[in-house]
Amino acid sequence: MSSYTRDFSHESVDARGEEAMHTHKNRVAVISGAAKGIGQELAVQLAQRGAVLALLDIADLSQTCDMIEKAGGKAIAIHCDVSNEQDWIAAGAVVKQEYGRCDILVNNAGIYPNVHFDDMDYKTWRRTFEINLDSMFLSAKVFVPMMRENHWGRIVNVSSTSIVTNAVGVSHYMASKMGIIGFTRGLANDLGKDFITVNALAPALTATPGTSHLPDVVRDKVVNQQAFNRMAVPHDIVGPILFLTSEDAQFMTGQLLAVDGGMMKTS
Ligand SMILES: NC(=O)c1ccc[n+]([C@@H]2O[C@H](COP(=O)([O-])OP(=O)(O)OC[C@H]3O[C@@H](n4cnc5c(N)ncnc54)[C@H](O)[C@@H]3O)[C@@H](O)[C@H]2O)c1
Repeated sequence: MSSYTRDFSHESVDARGEEAMHTHKNRVAVISGAAKGIGQELAVQLAQRGAVLALLDIADLSQTCDMIEKAGGKAIAIHCDVSNEQDWIAAGAVVKQEYGRCDILVNNAGIYPNVHFDDMDYKTWRRTFEINLDSMFLSAKVFVPMMRENHWGRIVNVSSTSIVTNAVGVSHYMASKMGIIGFTRGLANDLGKDFITVNALAPALTATPGTSHLPDVVRDKVVNQQAFNRMAVPHDIVGPILFLTSEDAQFMTGQLLAVDGGMMKTS
């Protein structure tokens, strides 16, 4: 019997629950921006589901590593500035040496400095693109060849719902996050024959260290556009990433998945 016609009726709920918790067993997952926020929550949840992890960040990753160790998982921490090509090449070498493969790549690291167009210089514009968008090209160059070796891969690029809002001071951010969608679609086309899926995810405004400085008026404005009357937390965002990186998402590629509490209503 093939896996998709399998009959679960003879199994206890507990047995199925146990299996459901191991959706990523022995998968090697690389996550950028894993020191805090959405990336940290994702790292812990992937570890709980059986994945082994390579955590990348410019910030201290020891807290995330401790959390994974407590959850009984395995992780290596790699200092990597995602805008730096040499850092990605070095990270790839460490992952290859430590794990021998890469199955999952989540390009999560990003910056969102609020700068009105009138005050923005070209350096800020370029830096935003280097970290938010160029990094996704650089990481794919390093990790796609490893995925190809096993004819299996899942890439998730983190975009943002800000692309459809009327937020002020984020033209550079919106442009970079729109660029992610274009790159995701194009890369999905190029990698389909290798059984590597590439999808983008657009989170709503989410309570993380990166957004903790925002005034209530900004949060209220976003929440008022959602169907759900609360701000998202990292746990809300991670569930759909777990799906996109699982076996279950094998026929889904080139998509933008909005995890926005009902804000975008694009389809
Ligand atoms: N939090 C939100 O409201 C929200 C909404 C939509 C999209 N997003 C996107 O989700 C992703 C994660 O957001 P978050 O709120 O968890 O962010 P955060 O600021 O809480 O954490 C981001 C992490 O990325 C790391 N990072 C930043 N620059 C880096 C670089 N050059 N190299 C390596 N690591 C770097 C930071 O050190 C940090 O650990 C980002 O891409 C962000 O644009 C966030």
